[in-house]
Amino acid sequence: MQELPTNHRLLLAARPTGIPGPENFAADTVPARAPDAGEVLMETTYLSIDPAMRSWMSEKPLQNKNISLGEVMRGGGIARVIASRAAGIEPGDLVQARLGWQTHPTLNGRYLQKLDLTLGTSEDWIGPLGLSAVTAYFGLRDIGGLRRHDHVLVSSAAGGVGQIAVQIARIEGCRVVGIAGGARKCAFVANELGAHAVIDYKAEENLSAAIARACPHGIDLYFDNVGGPTLDAALEHLRPGARIVLCGRISQTLAAESYGVRNLGRLSAANGRMQSFLVFNYHDRYDEARIWLAARHRDSSLQQKLHVLAGLQQAPIALGMLFRGENNGKLVIRVSDDLGPR
Ligand SMILES: NC(=O)c1ccc[n+]([C@@H]2O[C@H](COP(=O)([O-])OP(=O)(O)OC[C@H]3O[C@@H](n4cnc5c(N)ncnc54)[C@H](OP(=O)(O)O)[C@@H]3O)[C@@H](O)[C@H]2O)c1
Repeated sequence: MQELPTNHRLLLAARPTGIPGPENFAADTVPARAPDAGEVLMETTYLSIDPAMRSWMSEKPLQNKNISLGEVMRGGGIARVIASRAAGIEPGDLVQARLGWQTHPTLNGRYLQKLDLTLGTSEDWIGPLGLSAVTAYFGLRDIGGLRRHDHVLVSSAAGGVGQIAVQIARIEGCRVVGIAGGARKCAFVANELGAHAVIDYKAEENLSAAIARACPHGIDLYFDNVGGPTLDAALEHLRPGARIVLCGRISQTLAAESYGVRNLGRLSAANGRMQSFLVFNYHDRYDEARIWLAARHRDSSLQQKLHVLAGLQQAPIALGMLFRGENNGKLVIRVSDDLGPR
């Protein structure tokens, strides 16, 4: 093998108290490690930036093990194989894995998934075929029991998961209303994603009244990405048999005191149900979701707008952007420009 490249890494240096940022990370460089038997050396091309990462950085995350101080920051993405001692994986292959925030990870081949480039390009695998899209697919269908003609409400509708949820519901013949922060995001949700109505929650004094106007017949399915007062407001407008999908609760991640939901009585009155889920539990069915998503992406009925920042050093800034609503689309870091075959 040629000379080993330098591995640029970002390590967790301090646990955040509020919105995470560069002060929580330390950069270092080490020689990349040549693969042992069964291992693969890669060059990271894209990293996905996700709200759950903030929780993994804390002492006691709600899900998953925390990241130790001094450990490479955890994160998933796409990489190009440079050297392989794992069966079935060759240099030049594009793979998906929990790579960590580093430019040249060496990992056991069993943790890698080769990208099926017949479904989409490597960019598609971080976009409309990526885990955010897969999350929307299983959340709406398996948890939400999405049905044609449902009246669907989606929060954080311009975000990575939300924009796919809006489009899936629209494709399936539902009436869809999106909630997003600011005029620019709302215009995107209405004009590019095809939502039937949008609510700019930052411009509304009374969110419940705004939902009543946008959803005059009530809500059959609420796909909740934010929790807190937005969930409470949605609960006031449930139709009989309504379903609430608890996908995420980003409004509560940094809250000093958790918001106490008041309107659960409305769920009983509607004879509805509310259920959370973790996309990782659908691992065995990711292919099913990707085949469906790829077909809709090919016929141009579904898109995933990416918000791309260039360079590994941008990752800590990017993570904070999620909690300030500064991302316009699915947030990713382009770590390397060398994407190999597309
Ligand atoms: N269940 C699962 O397996 C699973 C998997 C992936 C993601 N998730 C969850 O899905 C949700 C969306 O994730 P994503 O990656 O697609 O992020 P995203 O929606 O692309 O980005 C986060 C967005 O959240 C909104 N936000 C931030 N603080 C808020 C607050 N206090 N109140 C209301 N909205 C706020 C902002 O949009 P606005 O500008 O519109 O406010 C921000 O742009 C997250 O809650 C995440 O944890 C769950």
